[in-house]
Amino acid sequence: MKCIIVGCGGHGRVVLDVVLAAGEHEIVGFIDSNARMHGRRVDGREVFGDMRVVDRLKRDLGVEGAIVAIGDNGVRRSFADACELAGLTLINAIHPSANIARNASIGRNVVVAAGALVCAHCQIGDSAILNTGCIVDHESMIGTGVHICPGARLAGRVTVEAGSFVGIGATIIQSLHIGYEATIGAGAVVTRHVDAMATVVGVPAREIKSIAAEDEAAAWQAITARPSSAVARIGS
Ligand SMILES: CC(C)(COP(=O)(O)OP(=O)(O)OC[C@H]1O[C@@H](n2cnc3c(N)ncnc32)[C@H](O)[C@@H]1OP(=O)(O)O)[C@@H](O)C(=O)NCCC(=O)NCCS
Repeated sequence: MKCIIVGCGGHGRVVLDVVLAAGEHEIVGFIDSNARMHGRRVDGREVFGDMRVVDRLKRDLGVEGAIVAIGDNGVRRSFADACELAGLTLINAIHPSANIARNASIGRNVVVAAGALVCAHCQIGDSAILNTGCIVDHESMIGTGVHICPGARLAGRVTVEAGSFVGIGATIIQSLHIGYEATIGAGAVVTRHVDAMATVVGVPAREIKSIAAEDEAAAWQAITARPSSAVARIGS
């Protein structure tokens, strides 16, 4: 299938290499929101324009498919939706050196980079990135738009909810739950469940940011900024 890569940055180059190595689809070029890249070439492929050129690429070049190669988890998911709305089929980029168990399930717009291992009964959600040399062990569940960075290792039965980021070289021990849009720092060893939207770092991993604490601070500021009658109403 003739395809485009959405995003011509560093991750876009990785994805181009993976798709070429896999040899299943033809990449005709990139699209990117950065107007300064339009008309330039990246690794020999033209950057045609932004999403507005998709109809022309479909009509003139026979483009039917796309893969979104944007590092930011939320932005990647948005562009995946936009591609589907524009009538493009989302493809996967799976490097031939990656090893995926036969009974693992893989969504759409997924990147499995060189040397990554996906073990038995894993489920990998749409728009996930399993980056170079990472290990996702048996029965783990990786949510939509998650990024597992290079060399990260997840033991068996780990759940990583949608939009989370597992930093380079991080380790998560078995059966843990990582809430949605959490951040695991580079090199962390995670030994406890991680709350949604929390950031944890270190060995063993400790929380340095949590949405609960931020919410509490914001609520406190809001209350102290109001006249005392309003505080009384909130308290009643
Ligand atoms: C976890 C991370 C997102 C935190 O970034 P941040 O919110 O900007 O946090 P800061 O840099 O302000 O650091 C806050 C504190 O955590 C510490 N810290 C940050 N990252 C750390 C890490 N990976 N391991 C240990 N400590 C870390 C800092 O030293 C700092 O400590 P201090 O308050 O005692 O000085 C970032 O440091 C990180 O590890 N990113 C992952 C990068 C990666 O994997 N890239 C691969 C892309 S493919």
